[in-house]
Amino acid sequence: MKYNIQAFTEEYLPPVMAIENSVFKSDSFPESVFIELLQQPNVLSMLVMTEQNELAGYAMVRYTFHEAEILTIAVANNFLRKGVGKFLMENIIIYCLSSDINDLFLEVRPSNKPAINLYKKFGAERIGIRKNYYENEDAYVYRLKLPTK
Ligand SMILES: CC(C)(COP(=O)(O)OP(=O)(O)OC[C@H]1O[C@@H](n2cnc3c(N)ncnc32)[C@H](O)[C@@H]1OP(=O)(O)O)[C@@H](O)C(=O)NCCC(=O)NCCS
Repeated sequence: MKYNIQAFTEEYLPPVMAIENSVFKSDSFPESVFIELLQQPNVLSMLVMTEQNELAGYAMVRYTFHEAEILTIAVANNFLRKGVGKFLMENIIIYCLSSDINDLFLEVRPSNKPAINLYKKFGAERIGIRKNYYENEDAYVYRLKLPTK
């Protein structure tokens, strides 16, 4: 399937929130957090659209100088395992490479095998654990080292 990246603007909040709530359940960000993040200058936000203009996934990344952190990355249930997560990661990495960002961090539940496999596929390594980061689980911290210019 062919995908396109599109700017994440407030008009897409209803479909994004539908995916967010169905994917993350009790971990989901409230809409107010998305609204705040969309207004921040140091947050990269992107949507993945299909050729039929359906929303397939989204990601938000906060960056400062040479570091960035994936705040959220999610794919709609009906598009799972169709390369959308990989497409988002590729586009995040392209942005980082063009912006002189050398470290990309991600936090993930140890039980979240799809996300861990996705990150590892791009060469991310586990560098630590944040105790009780989630309500009932620790978080693994992964870092993806990117080449310097
Ligand atoms: C993690 C997530 C973004 C992956 O998106 P996706 O579009 O389904 O992934 P892709 O089809 O691009 O797959 C890329 C790689 O991810 C890994 N992967 C994806 N789904 C997987 C699964 N169910 N089980 C194991 N590995 C999986 C594989 O390594 C896969 O490569 P492969 O197809 O060559 O084996 C998606 O499962 C998701 O939205 N999960 C819920 C939200 C979430 O947990 N986000 C991360 C924490 S913020």
